[in-house]
Amino acid sequence: MRTAVVTGGGSGIGKAIAERLKADGLRVATLDLNPPATEHSYKADVTSREQIDEALTRIRASLGPVTVLVNAAGLDGFKRFADLSFASWQRVIDVNLNGVFHCVQAVLPDMVETGWGRIVNISSSSAHSGQQYMAHYVSAKSAVNGLTKALALELGPAGVTVNAVPPGFIDTPMLRKAEERGLLGGTIEDHIQRTPVRRVGTPQDLAATCSFLISEEAGYITGQIVGVNGGRNT
Ligand SMILES: NC(=O)c1ccc[n+]([C@@H]2O[C@H](COP(=O)([O-])OP(=O)(O)OC[C@H]3O[C@@H](n4cnc5c(N)ncnc54)[C@H](O)[C@@H]3O)[C@@H](O)[C@H]2O)c1
Repeated sequence: MRTAVVTGGGSGIGKAIAERLKADGLRVATLDLNPPATEHSYKADVTSREQIDEALTRIRASLGPVTVLVNAAGLDGFKRFADLSFASWQRVIDVNLNGVFHCVQAVLPDMVETGWGRIVNISSSSAHSGQQYMAHYVSAKSAVNGLTKALALELGPAGVTVNAVPPGFIDTPMLRKAEERGLLGGTIEDHIQRTPVRRVGTPQDLAATCSFLISEEAGYITGQIVGVNGGRNT
């Protein structure tokens, strides 16, 4: 039985992915700044290597080596570029990009030793389309797509696949908060009318994609950016 770690597993997309992988029969642990009070949920800030390593020590002791990693922890932000503080820029890059660096490096020895691994990075469709007032976020998520491609080439020979899944417009607390603050350029309903499949995405849409990408059957798929966005970006 495989052991998976899902970052950002306390909410939205990460939570749905963790539930799906459990239902698929994996042992699943989650890392989150705000972990739910459930078994195998660990508090860790993905920007802190120390906190990640501490959590992984406990996870390995109870669930064994980690051979599946889904990086779903994320932090958005909306600010005109001219007003964007360097501290906000750094924090958004730190959580969305450096967090992936730390988590991949921390679990990689388990995958290399096993000769098998699956890494899925949840990036963002905004890396494809660009997004005004989100220069820091778009930059970080674009870099995650690039990191995914570089790692796929480097880790393929070790039996590890690395793919990115950029979501577009998924109904989660992150999206609802942005709507409440009037940051979406219209309501969710307005956006649905402009979405080819005429609905908002669900965390379960992402969970199904991850479930496939980490399966045995997906072993020939690596270095890919697999969009889940209802046709908003093609
Ligand atoms: N919802 C969307 O439409 C959408 C679109 C594009 C990309 N995404 C990406 O999908 C991922 C999941 O987003 P979501 O919509 O489920 O958001 P969410 O806010 O519901 O969940 C994000 C989770 O990440 C955790 N988190 C944030 N910073 C962290 C840190 N430093 N360390 C550990 N955990 C941290 C939060 O506590 C939260 O539980 C994110 O990477 C987000 O950028 C979402």
